Amino acid sequence: MSSSYWHPFADMAAVVAGGELVLERGDGCSVWDVDGKRYLDATASLWYCNVGWGRSEIGDAAAAQMARLPTYSNFGDIVMPVTLELAERVADLAPVPGSKVFLTSGGSDSIDTATKMARRYWQLLDEPDRTILVRREKAYHGMHTAGTSLAGIPANAAGHGALIQDVIEVPWDDPDSLRAAIEDVGAERVAAFFCEPVIGAGGVFPPPDGYLEAVRAVCRDTGVLFVADEVITGFGRCGDWFVSTRFRLEPDIVTCAKGITSGYLPLGAVLASPRVAEPFWADGGGMWRHGYTYSGHAAVAAVALVNIDILEREELPGRAKAMEGSFLDALKSLADHDLVEDVRGGLGLLAAIQLRTDLVDADPAIGARVGAATRGAGVLVRPLVGGALAVSPPLTIQDSEIEELVAGLRTGLDAVA
Ligand SMILES: Cc1ncc(COP(=O)(O)O)c(C=O)c1O
Repeated sequence: MSSSYWHPFADMAAVVAGGELVLERGDGCSVWDVDGKRYLDATASLWYCNVGWGRSEIGDAAAAQMARLPTYSNFGDIVMPVTLELAERVADLAPVPGSKVFLTSGGSDSIDTATKMARRYWQLLDEPDRTILVRREKAYHGMHTAGTSLAGIPANAAGHGALIQDVIEVPWDDPDSLRAAIEDVGAERVAAFFCEPVIGAGGVFPPPDGYLEAVRAVCRDTGVLFVADEVITGFGRCGDWFVSTRFRLEPDIVTCAKGITSGYLPLGAVLASPRVAEPFWADGGGMWRHGYTYSGHAAVAAVALVNIDILEREELPGRAKAMEGSFLDALKSLADHDLVEDVRGGLGLLAAIQLRTDLVDADPAIGARVGAATRGAGVLVRPLVGGALAVSPPLTIQDSEIEELVAGLRTGLDAVA
């Protein structure tokens, strides 16, 4: 039966031909489809379910807030106690003390907000020519118009006509190129550099040694705002609350989403450091005509608070750090496979199995086929551009489940070899 549901990021003809995977239940690191088949969720859905499935206390908090007051518009001066509490809580965790918290409905909203915040910041500082946004090769910053314009994965930007102007791209791994690019156009024209501390959808590329510190220094030297896109890496995934905290990057702006609620309800946040927030909050800053209907949604805030409680109580960011070595070692046991070129990871529970690039060049669909075969073996992994298979389980994953993950991947690889 064909359904009316139009899937995101999908070739609908292929979905109609191949059928859908209809999931109905989750618990811990497992999810079940409507036929009762269990899968190991090795990706925490789309990199977000950091606390794992089945946390009824999160649902209870949402239900209680919905019974009291689901939400109310936060435009202007209105707010709910639970939203204020969340902002304080997130500000306390922010990589830069004294940050202000602008809430959104997800990661793409956060990126859109960050681009506008960066450009308006320079307007307020009387440097209106600072409009250029710098992206990295391989970057993924969501799919709103701003994020699409910042896409370093060419296929993600293609086919939509003119996007945001004044965007330049630099190699993903070379701080000197960033400095040269900024000098080339003139620092006085550059608003912000967008940086995923670990490149996610572009293939899971951890930063080369010293890279993050070096690009941070380039931004400091040139005045360019450093925006850390921690939509995937924030809230524990990479072994601290933020990679920016782990590497002491002190970003001017941090974008986050996903792990802030573990996806139990949609939420994003933009953390503006005091440098950036100050001119907006100062007398004369004026109204910033930006915000979303569901910015600060109360039931979502209640969910985020309980999710953060769980991350704290179970010390899940620290757990991700403690397990990062053994997790990567377990995945590296697949490096001997004929289809595998490399296993990337090492920062928390975020990794990718890179298939051999000669095979990927010859057959770009090979990653999808390994992913499908791995799913057949009961393990959900995520094929990415370039033939990498992403692995980012809930931070609660047990050793026995890591063994199951590796075995499922080997079965998937064998099936395609
Ligand atoms: C680094 C990064 N930024 C932004 C986004 C966009 O987030 P969302 O899909 O919640 O809009 C994503 C989504 O995967 C992401 O990985």
